[in-house]
Amino acid sequence: SKKPVRVAVTGAAGQIGYAILFRIASGEMLGKDQPVMLSLLEVPVEKAQQALQGVMMELQDCAFPLLVGMQAHSDPMTAFKDVDYALLIGSRPRGPGMERAELLAVNAEIFTAQGKALNAVASRDVRVLVVGNPANTNAYIAMKSAPDLPRKNFTAMLRLDHNRALSQLATKTGKAVADIEKMAVWGNHSPTMYADYRFATINGESVKDMINDQDWNANTFLPTVGKRGAAIIAARGVSSAASAANAAIDHMHDWALGTNGKWVTMGIPSNGEYGIPKDTMFGFPVTCVNGEYTIVEGLPIDAFSQECINKTLKELQEEQAGVAHLL
Ligand code: NAI
Repeated sequence: SKKPVRVAVTGAAGQIGYAILFRIASGEMLGKDQPVMLSLLEVPVEKAQQALQGVMMELQDCAFPLLVGMQAHSDPMTAFKDVDYALLIGSRPRGPGMERAELLAVNAEIFTAQGKALNAVASRDVRVLVVGNPANTNAYIAMKSAPDLPRKNFTAMLRLDHNRALSQLATKTGKAVADIEKMAVWGNHSPTMYADYRFATINGESVKDMINDQDWNANTFLPTVGKRGAAIIAARGVSSAASAANAAIDHMHDWALGTNGKWVTMGIPSNGEYGIPKDTMFGFPVTCVNGEYTIVEGLPIDAFSQECINKTLKELQEEQAGVAHLL
């Protein structure tokens, strides 16, 4: 049987933590033949650590055959020791009356410390997914704080936007989600993201031609996908958790095990592709093989798309400029 891998999850006692840990432990993320050891990080606050103990009791009670070990931590330096995968979910959400600069600053502190800890103690091949918002900028901070690790191993979660776009397109066309290929989401995980179905096909047929409605694209589809998080908060009273956990499982699963040629979206550091400045943590369409992703290159960018890409890029650059002095 396979050698166990170590998976770190931060914010492990939170909502997304509760929706993801059981799926990681059951093998849905890394395969039904891959034993895992969970390294669970929560803030050093008694209530959070106690809640984490409760989650661990439930994990134990599932008696998952693939879960060969787990530990609770309150310090990233111990939590990230030798980890092969790190899901950075815990972050500081915007509180009532909190200024944007303050939000960026508290998160910069968290992700600087976690990036440094990964740099110091994680496996040299650690694959990192940042879910905690602002996800792209937090991933950028962690990457910048870990100079000894490969830049390409730091990623941000755009997969929820990608999946939301797929299901909106399936509904609109009356086709199955599973049959949609070549979806792309560009940019920041925020309402400015650009979900781009110009290349998408269903059984070889162009989705754009099937829909043939630019007004729907600009005024219904993009706002629906962009504001979906807010719509869920309005309906549920709390933010999306199960769908976010599901997207994180998809992201890591596909990165580790490959996409068989299918396009997925990952937030990854640019190397200048599509004119996005180097190191910008940007959503791109990618394919994955053997634990490595490759950007889908050479796609034509029309005027409308360029405008959308410029807008989300501008927002990301402002976020990154806002934390530059903290790095
Ligand atoms: P939550 O508030 O239920 O849980 C967050 C947990 O993280 C808390 O238990 C907290 O104690 C912990 N935490 C905070 N700082 C930490 C630190 N420095 N180290 C370790 N743990 C820490 O929040 P929820 O619903 O689980 O969401 C987590 C994050 O994911 C939020 O920032 C949310 O905005 C973001 N999110 C991102 C999505 C995406 O598509 N990228 C989608 C949905 C949510």
